[in-house]
Amino acid sequence: MAFTKKTIRDINLKGKTVLLRADYNVPIKDGKVAGDFRIKQSKSTLEYLLDQDCKIVICSHLGRPKGPDDKSASLKPVVANLNKLLDRNIQFAPDCIGPETESLAKALQPRQILLLENLRYHSEEEANDDQFAQALAKLAEVFIQDGFGVVHRKHASTSAITKHLPSVAGLLLEKEVDTITEVMDKPKRPLMAIIGGAKIADKIDVLTKFVDLADFVVIGGAMANTFLLARGMDLGESLIDKEDVHLANQIIDRAHAKAKARRFVFYLPQDGVVAKKLDKTVTTRVVDWGAHVIADIESYPKMPPRSASTIHADEAIYDIGPISAAFIAGGLQMVDTVVWNGTMGVAELDGVVGPIGPFAHGTELVIEAIAGKLGHRPYSLVGGGDTASFIENKQQTEYFDHVSTGGGASLDLMCGKPLPGVEALEDK
Ligand code: 3PG
Repeated sequence: MAFTKKTIRDINLKGKTVLLRADYNVPIKDGKVAGDFRIKQSKSTLEYLLDQDCKIVICSHLGRPKGPDDKSASLKPVVANLNKLLDRNIQFAPDCIGPETESLAKALQPRQILLLENLRYHSEEEANDDQFAQALAKLAEVFIQDGFGVVHRKHASTSAITKHLPSVAGLLLEKEVDTITEVMDKPKRPLMAIIGGAKIADKIDVLTKFVDLADFVVIGGAMANTFLLARGMDLGESLIDKEDVHLANQIIDRAHAKAKARRFVFYLPQDGVVAKKLDKTVTTRVVDWGAHVIADIESYPKMPPRSASTIHADEAIYDIGPISAAFIAGGLQMVDTVVWNGTMGVAELDGVVGPIGPFAHGTELVIEAIAGKLGHRPYSLVGGGDTASFIENKQQTEYFDHVSTGGGASLDLMCGKPLPGVEALEDK
């Protein structure tokens, strides 16, 4: 289904002052932006607005600051990235509302840009406060929503603001919604979903959705531990979520029912890389706890056998093992679409002599397979903030067809949940 909301291409913006809501919620380290993927992705909208001679006021949130004194959440470091991206001098307003900000916005000339300080320094932003939205609306003639990563929130800058200004979508928002919707509505099959991350509770909806929709579901990351616990395995010191075991069982039951009805693979890792602590110099061991390949999910209740190799009480699983990685990479040779969310292990830990750490090999092989380095290249969609930042930090975004800037927003969209920040915009 094509995007049904008006975009910046549908209205006359020539010379207008616009308030652009971006999602520049980016990692900051030592006062500098440590991952600029989201900033770079806003370039096409910004260039379009510059071509239209707009005066551009940009607002965003960063992190979840307790109040305006939390300087670690300032958006000021983003100025340098925007300067570089657009080759110009962006101005910065030390507050997002108030008389000083209003005069800075008023003084803008066509093609000039003003970035406002963190919206969340005002608690009214998250409260979707109408007066706060009015104060923001004073800064411009048109509101443009381009912060895809935040449209699942009902906040003043995603919701209330649209009552006070004509409100349309930016090009990034349109592209994200169109691409993700297309994959979910009409995936080229077979479709594989690879879901990792820590908490099942955070991803229960998307897990349920993919068990229903996909032909092949792979569980990785710490989340797999909870599934393995649900199957009765001893996991030593591995990160597990005992509270989520019932959710794991729910998903397994659903997968079980589907596998009875049609050809469907639900895969849990069958081996893992374990260690006594999470450290790049630590000695690791591969533990093969037995096949959990669930082409025939009926075999589940018999799993796991007391395998030859078990995890010691003082060890934890930090990555999938080579057999599991090879199985997933092999599966990727047979599918035409893959949706990936969540790394297979603690892939962000660097190695001793390079960026690939001791617990990144599973994720790396999956990336190589998705990138087509083993022969076949499926269409690939990566959704979810942490996975996207990981790929961006490793400079691997070009291997994927679409890397979403949204975390929760992309998961909600995949599940078909309404996105308040999109719904509030004008219909075409
Ligand atoms: C994100 O990083 O997912 C978005 O910027 C939203 O941030 P939030 O989860 O703090 O609302």
